[in-house]
Amino acid sequence: SPHFHYRNGELFAEGVALSTLARQLGTPLYVYSRAALATAWAAYQEAIGSHRVLVCFGMKANSNLAVLKEFARLGSGFDIVSGGELARVLAAGANPAKVVFSGVGKQDWEMQAALEAGVKCFNVESLPELKRLSEVANRIGKLAAVSLRVNPDVDAQTHPYISTGLKENKFGIAIEEAPAAYQLASTLPGIQVVGVDCHIGSQITEVSPYLDALDKLLKLIEQLVRQGIQLKHLDLGGGLGIRYDDETPLAPKVLLDKVFAELRARGFDHLELVLEPGRSLVGNAGVLLTTVQYLKLTDARNFAIVDAAMNDLMRPALYEAWHGVLPLKPRTSANTLYDVVGPVCESADWLARARQLALEQGDVLAIESAGAYGFVMAGNYNSRPRPAEVMVDGENYHVIRQRETFADLIRGESCLPD
Ligand code: LLP
Repeated sequence: SPHFHYRNGELFAEGVALSTLARQLGTPLYVYSRAALATAWAAYQEAIGSHRVLVCFGMKANSNLAVLKEFARLGSGFDIVSGGELARVLAAGANPAKVVFSGVGKQDWEMQAALEAGVKCFNVESLPELKRLSEVANRIGKLAAVSLRVNPDVDAQTHPYISTGLKENKFGIAIEEAPAAYQLASTLPGIQVVGVDCHIGSQITEVSPYLDALDKLLKLIEQLVRQGIQLKHLDLGGGLGIRYDDETPLAPKVLLDKVFAELRARGFDHLELVLEPGRSLVGNAGVLLTTVQYLKLTDARNFAIVDAAMNDLMRPALYEAWHGVLPLKPRTSANTLYDVVGPVCESADWLARARQLALEQGDVLAIESAGAYGFVMAGNYNSRPRPAEVMVDGENYHVIRQRETFADLIRGESCLPD
C-alpha cells in the first residue's frame, strides 16, 4: 500500500516513522492509516458513480470506534452481526437507517435492540429465525424490514473456512426453498419483505462467482415478481479480496461495472444495490508491529521469536494465511531463512514461514495487511494483554485503543471465599 512506504531506509505510515510509534507505544502494536481507509472507500465510490448503492462496511473486519467513525463520516452504512456490533455503531454515531443486520444466530434481545434502533434491514438466514423475528417485532409493535439471505450454491474459490455460499455451509436459505420462504414471510405479522441478500465468501479474486450468484438471485427475483412480491434492494454481501502476496485483487469497479450492466440488461436497475465489504476497505490499511526477541538458530530451522503471537493475529494459525513481513529498518547484511514465530505454547503459533530476512535481536518488523480480521480476532490466550491500536493521520497519530493491562486481564474474575 502506498500509505506504508520506505523513506530514507525507514518504513513510514503516511508521514510518521513506524520506529517512532514502536518506541513510544511499545509492541505488539496495530497501526492504521487514515488515508488508506479513505482511499479504499474512494475506490468503491468511483466504481459506484451515480448508481444507487449503499456500502455497508462489514465491521467484523475491524470494529474499533475510530475506524467506524471514519467510515460513518465518509457516509458508509454498516453490516453488523451482533448486539455488540450494534452498540459499537451507535457509539460511533452512525445512522442506524444505514445498518443491515446479518448472522445465523440472532437472539431475541439483539432483534429487539436492532428494531428499537431502527436498522434498515435484517438479513434473515432461516425460517425459525424469520418466525422469531416476527414474534419479537409484533410484541414490541415494530415492523421488521427483511431480506432473506439465500445460499446460491456457488463456489467462491477461496479458503474453505471463509467460503460461505456452498450448500453445505450453515449460512442462508437454499435458493430452491427461497420462493416458499418469501411467500411465508409476506404473510407474517411484523415482517415487511424488502430485499434479497447473499454473501458467498471472502478474499474472492474472481468476478465469475459473483456473476453466478447474481444470476441466481435475479432469477429468484423474477420468480418473486410472478408471486406478487416486489423487492426494493439486492444485497450482494462482501468478499472482495486484497493483495496479501501476489494475488490480483478484484477491483470494485471491475465487479460493479459487470453488476450494473447485468441489472440494466435484465430490467432491474430500479433496485438499490447493497454491498457489505469488510476486508477490501481495511485490510491493507493496517500493519502489526512486533519486536524480535530472540534469534534461535537450529539444525532444522531458524526462528525469529517475536513479541506478537497467534493471540494477536490469528490468521496464520487459523487459515495458514500469508502476511508480508517488512523490517522497519532493512539491514544490508546477508539474509537468512526464518520462521517468524510468537511466544505462545502452540506449534500453530507462527506469523510467517520461510522468509528471507536480515535480522538482529531488537529489530522491529511490520506484519502487513493486518487491518482486517487482525485485532478483532485477538484474544488473551497465555494471559497476553491485547495490543494497542493507533491511527496515523498525515504527520500525526492518535492512540485509538490503549494496550490492555494486567488489571484488564483479570477484570470480572473472583475467587471462592476461604
Ligand atoms: N457480509 C457477511 C454476511 C459476512 O459474513 C462477511 C464476512 C462480510 C460481509 C465481509 O466480508 P469481506 O468483505 O471482509 O470478505 N476471518 C476471516 C474472514 C471471515 C469473513 C467472515 N464474513 C479471515 O481472516 O480471512
